[in-house]
Amino acid sequence: MSPHEVMRTYLVTGAASGLGAAVAGRLRARGDRVVTVDLRDADVNADLGTPAGRAEALAAVSGPFDGLIPCAGLGPQVPDHALIASVNYFGAMAFLDGCELVRGGAAVAISSNSTTIDPTVNADLVAAFLDDDEPRARALSGDLAGNSVYASSKVAIARAVRRRVTEWGSRGVRINAVAPGPFRSPLLQEGLDDPVFGPLIEALPIPTGEIGTAGEVAAVVEFLLSPAASYVHGAILFVDGGIDALLRPEAI
Ligand SMILES: NC(=O)c1ccc[n+]([C@@H]2O[C@H](COP(=O)([O-])OP(=O)(O)OC[C@H]3O[C@@H](n4cnc5c(N)ncnc54)[C@H](O)[C@@H]3O)[C@@H](O)[C@H]2O)c1
Repeated sequence: MSPHEVMRTYLVTGAASGLGAAVAGRLRARGDRVVTVDLRDADVNADLGTPAGRAEALAAVSGPFDGLIPCAGLGPQVPDHALIASVNYFGAMAFLDGCELVRGGAAVAISSNSTTIDPTVNADLVAAFLDDDEPRARALSGDLAGNSVYASSKVAIARAVRRRVTEWGSRGVRINAVAPGPFRSPLLQEGLDDPVFGPLIEALPIPTGEIGTAGEVAAVVEFLLSPAASYVHGAILFVDGGIDALLRPEAI
């Protein structure tokens, strides 16, 4: 960092692994401060799958922050589908709605390209998420397949981002999301090892040729946090090697 630059402070959840670790690494490498939250190996160890764990984590982190990146999440192969709902949606929204950002700050939420390529998105579950009704979302999730809960949680995250542009804009803070395709991480590896999801992931056509890396997604997150993205607000940016464009070429 050059002497005239100011050190910024970012909050990253899910920072012990995968994308969260890659984002935290990029921010630290340029001299910024990163406060991390995860189940383990973080500044704040907390379970974001429960309201009590989220409240504990929010009480332990003190903003305001220059940027917020709630990465903690579970994949569709996790057997406890209600937990997928709690961590992926409520675990992210607690921070997006509960953390103070400085004027000029930005948040990047983590959606997924499953939002558009998985046909099992469940409208009732998406509504329960957006109604902020965790008991209803958990109950509905118990009756749905893991990929349906996963994709629905990521649709709700993307819509929640878009719904916040006016209020966030009036405060001088930006909110965007990335919608990654498969990238190498322990979460993806669990999916690849799963007898149901593994073959489906392997069969995805990826125009760039290969499954991506957490670093490739983290680079886009860093851009969205930066002043170079000052006019990018409410965007859902696909970082998926072209999968969404290949499968839905007319969807614009
Ligand atoms: N890997 C992919 O292919 C892929 C694709 C699209 C979207 N995503 C999303 O990217 C985000 C990061 O995923 P990843 O692949 O880096 O996964 P990962 O498993 O490597 O990392 C996820 C982190 O979240 C933490 N976490 C899980 N449950 C938690 C809880 N209850 N409380 C606190 N922390 C918890 C884990 O401990 C872990 O450190 C997730 O939101 C995921 O849905 C991943």
